Amino acid sequence: MPLMTVKEILTPVSSGWAVGAFNVHNLEDVQAVVNAADELEAPVIIMVSESALNYAGADFIRSIVATAAKRVQIPIALQLDHGKSLETVKRSIQAGFTSVMIDGSYLSFEDNVALTRQIVEYAHQHGCSVEGELGKIGGKEDDLLVEDADARFTDPRKVERFILETGIDVLAPAVGTAHGLYKGEARIDFPRLQAIRQATKVPLALHGGSDLSDEIIKEIMRSGVEKINVGTDLKIAITSGIKDYLSNNPEEIEPRKVFGAGRERGTRLVMEKMRLFECVGKASLY
Ligand code: 13P
Repeated sequence: MPLMTVKEILTPVSSGWAVGAFNVHNLEDVQAVVNAADELEAPVIIMVSESALNYAGADFIRSIVATAAKRVQIPIALQLDHGKSLETVKRSIQAGFTSVMIDGSYLSFEDNVALTRQIVEYAHQHGCSVEGELGKIGGKEDDLLVEDADARFTDPRKVERFILETGIDVLAPAVGTAHGLYKGEARIDFPRLQAIRQATKVPLALHGGSDLSDEIIKEIMRSGVEKINVGTDLKIAITSGIKDYLSNNPEEIEPRKVFGAGRERGTRLVMEKMRLFECVGKASLY
């Protein structure tokens, strides 16, 4: 199937299930995600961060994802994750990404609105959808660390204005999740999440979806979140597959065997997440 936008992927989602969005860096990561989605007939979002874009090359990674999508009959979207500037957004859209996330959370409300609106104008002219961030999500995303003290929860009273003034298609709120592994127990502000849900019909994206209990994920889905981001758990699965293989076969030099072991572990992890997100079989809705 041709690649879709994230907006199109999220349109059929109703309360109680969500689409998984997975961060990738190379061929094996993309194959792990697409193989799992194909096996379970699930819609899926593939995300590439700015540093992954620099690592792999926007055109390389887009070609890999587009080729994988052509081979299967499931809905797939390709999104730039945490873009910080118009320049990176243009680079990914020109390479054929269908969607972008602009992260203006390091700016004041007014400057975040101005940057996000500029991105929306450019992206919509090119048929791409846009996710914007309001508040500031904590943890380590890409090479940037947002200390807990600097994380700012989203004010539900500002949500409607942010969406109206920017024209975004998807909103990433800050409600207590963080990128990376949690230091203690994750504390999600569910009343705040529900107030944000009440404030808009625009789909919500939950960042920092790794290292959360199944109960928390279920409550997040019941609260009406349509997109759940997973980066760290997939990295851990893939690298631990590789490490285990090498510790059992220390003399092995065949990359196909080494990276293949990582890919297999990654596929299993993505399938587990898809079952948890209850998106299995939902490809038939598109
Ligand atoms: P985790 O690495 O915590 O899963 O977060 C991923 C994410 O939200 C990417 O934007």
